[in-house]
Amino acid sequence: MKTDIGSGHYQGRRQSLIEDARKEKETPASAPAGALKNQDSLDFEDDQERRTTANIFFTFRNDAKAGFSRTVKILETFAALIQHIESRPAGRSKSTDDLDFFVKCEIHNSDISALLNALKRVTNEVSIVKEEKVPWFPKKIRDLDKCHHLISKYEPDLDHDHPGYTDLEYRKRRNVITELAVNYKEGDPLTRVEYTAQETATWREVYRKLSSLYRTHACRQYLDSFQQLEKYCGYSEDSIPQLQDVSQFLKERTGFQLRPAAGLLSARDFLASLAFRVFQSTQYIRHHSSPMHSPEPDCCHELLGHVPMLADKEFAQFSQEIGLASLGASDTDIEKLATLYWFTIEFGLCKQNGSIKAYGAGLLSSYGELMYALSNNPEHKPFDPEVTAVQPYQDQTFQPIYFVSENFDDAKEQLRQYTLKIKRPFSVRYDPFTCSIEVLDSPQKVKNALSQMKEELKNLCFALERAFM
Ligand SMILES: [Fe+2]
Repeated sequence: MKTDIGSGHYQGRRQSLIEDARKEKETPASAPAGALKNQDSLDFEDDQERRTTANIFFTFRNDAKAGFSRTVKILETFAALIQHIESRPAGRSKSTDDLDFFVKCEIHNSDISALLNALKRVTNEVSIVKEEKVPWFPKKIRDLDKCHHLISKYEPDLDHDHPGYTDLEYRKRRNVITELAVNYKEGDPLTRVEYTAQETATWREVYRKLSSLYRTHACRQYLDSFQQLEKYCGYSEDSIPQLQDVSQFLKERTGFQLRPAAGLLSARDFLASLAFRVFQSTQYIRHHSSPMHSPEPDCCHELLGHVPMLADKEFAQFSQEIGLASLGASDTDIEKLATLYWFTIEFGLCKQNGSIKAYGAGLLSSYGELMYALSNNPEHKPFDPEVTAVQPYQDQTFQPIYFVSENFDDAKEQLRQYTLKIKRPFSVRYDPFTCSIEVLDSPQKVKNALSQMKEELKNLCFALERAFM
């Protein structure tokens, strides 16, 4: 999903996962996972929970008894749930009356600095170290029902610059279609939308214009899939494909499936769904007055930009790798992964037979930017996750820089090496049989996973032997 599919003439704000990841990072309640070190005491954040475990160290010189009593009262005032208390003779002190204390307690995140100030008034030295929690992430595919947080509301109802702002009929229609996504639950069939003649006419215009460029500008994988979609999935300029049919098509080819989205989701939620090979897709179409650009994601962007690439096995794997890396990652890493997503899945270029082709959905669904990206005007840089992840993102017009991958296999390997460096006190593994995420946070779990893999390897070795017999 991407927001701006602009031709470059639209001067409105462009929204992206990166921007949303930044907003999440700025939210004080978000707890980074990077500080965790002890694998035996992983603390996973509850979905609604914003309390944290704090380790408080303080010292009393002289009247430790009275001081400690005052400390307990302060902890009570902050509704701290005490889990552990211990004391010992104060280090570097000559008096046996001086005591060091350690208190482990659970407290609301937002109270930590106020608690520290209060304790400073009654103790001699005090410090608080937060035990960071791993941000919540979905572990079962049905948990994606909780991953629909809409961060940006760049909608025709809200933004004066939206092409559909003054069209009440369009706004009403949009609301009907987004309501389908809001009410969707994992496992439901994707509701078929009966598109109007005007909506189909908009689709036709976009389809015709863009497909005239694909032969020369799109990568081989895109062209192969597009041909298959035309042959087997009803892709044509005469009707807007239904998400249910497209989802079925993808499922058979790469295991990816679509899920309806009401608009732009938070970066964390959107990336998490990729870990399950689920792509959250909008179902409404852009306003008819502006067929060649949309300030937000719509079905033209999803169906023409994303879907053909998701039907390619290597690309599907690459997309899932980004998703898996995002699970439980810190807000800083989510922002980097959202940037990687932006410059690859949305705006990526790749080398093919000595020339450069597009594979990014933002390019393949935007006539103007597709032409521009493959011209001599922008800078082309080799894809390098370390560099790409921190590349400033352009949100007003076309990107000044596009990253070029050697091929998807190489990009996937580079991404894998990059994600290994992300500070996360556990690994995850997707179990395709149960459509769930296994958290590998103990030696036993890793052992079990290895033994399953050993069985698969045995089968493959046997198959290899037979193939050469
Ligand atoms: Fe997109």
